[in-house]
Amino acid sequence: MRAVSPAYTAVEEIAGAWLLDLLGLPPDSAVGFTTGATMANFTCLAAGRDTVLRRAGWSVAHDGLAGGPPVRVIAGQDRHMAIDLALRYLGLGRPELVEADAQGRIDAEALRHTLAARGPGVGPGSVPTIVILQAGDIHSGAFDPFPETIRAAREADAWVHVDGAFGLWAAASPTHAHLTDGCARADSWATDAHKTLNVPYDCGLAVVGDPAALRSAMGLQGDYLIQHEHGDPIDKVPELSRRGRAFTVWAALRSLGRAGVADLVDRLCRHARAFATGIDAIDGATVLNDVVFTQVCAEFGDDERTDRVLARLLDEGAAWISGSTWHGRRVMRISVSNWSTTDEDVSHTLDAIRRASSRTIRP
Ligand SMILES: Cc1ncc(COP(=O)(O)O)c(C=O)c1O
Repeated sequence: MRAVSPAYTAVEEIAGAWLLDLLGLPPDSAVGFTTGATMANFTCLAAGRDTVLRRAGWSVAHDGLAGGPPVRVIAGQDRHMAIDLALRYLGLGRPELVEADAQGRIDAEALRHTLAARGPGVGPGSVPTIVILQAGDIHSGAFDPFPETIRAAREADAWVHVDGAFGLWAAASPTHAHLTDGCARADSWATDAHKTLNVPYDCGLAVVGDPAALRSAMGLQGDYLIQHEHGDPIDKVPELSRRGRAFTVWAALRSLGRAGVADLVDRLCRHARAFATGIDAIDGATVLNDVVFTQVCAEFGDDERTDRVLARLLDEGAAWISGSTWHGRRVMRISVSNWSTTDEDVSHTLDAIRRASSRTIRP
């Protein structure tokens, strides 16, 4: 609370304002500091759910969800599973899925079609709707086409939310900011300071363009709580008691500055491109994604060999890279996230991948 933690509140507000500026988001937005992006998605989507239902004449705070109008939630088929989890917490169930292209970008035309189709049980035009977009696909790093998709969602009077757990930080780099073009026209954005910004874990950011919408979803009153006319940090997140998460964000931004954050983002992307170039040069290896941000997905001929290369790599222990399944294929998945990764680390890791690959070639 502001009354008992004025220094913390000031730091949270300063860090929040810097973040909005850095990420190119509307300056009057509210910023809540959550445990991570899952809870940031939850927090933003709670504001969205309550707002679209309020517009339909229904108060979730007063009446709950049962008996209210159904809410349509629409997301790309390659959304992160944290979205489904947040929707489960919110009592909204699984989203309706819209096709995505080979890189995982939601198809704007298909979204338009889905929005035009009748919602469950209610006539078009009156269906409370939320559209969830993505800034940064975990496999390809791809960003949804924000201008077209947000235009389509706006025409359908939908709340637009962007999950940008790691990708929203592209906006902080003049070289990569184009990836987030148009994204600022959404209603809410979730990201993590503990991913690209590299503050210690337990620091997500829930940004909502309309502070009143967030406050109405997350705010509370209690006789023993000292309310402040300018609002309190506790009105922007699900928890009451929590640690002072904004201190680390303030410190990281204060020490890095705008140029330092841009350098950090660019460095992670440069390492990802170096990984892609190095892996593509390995006999039998193919990088499957367009490397636009910090993600690289590669295969080594077939699923079985890809798994053997991964197993060899982990056995050797020089580098730790996990596998994944992307569009039905086993892949080696790299997501360059750590600020301290150096060119040498990348080069040693590539050596290890080459060794693992050569040892899996059958004579
Ligand atoms: C796109 C995306 N959304 C959401 C999440 C969940 O974030 P957190 O682990 O901070 O809850 C992740 C985590 O990797 C992510 O990449």
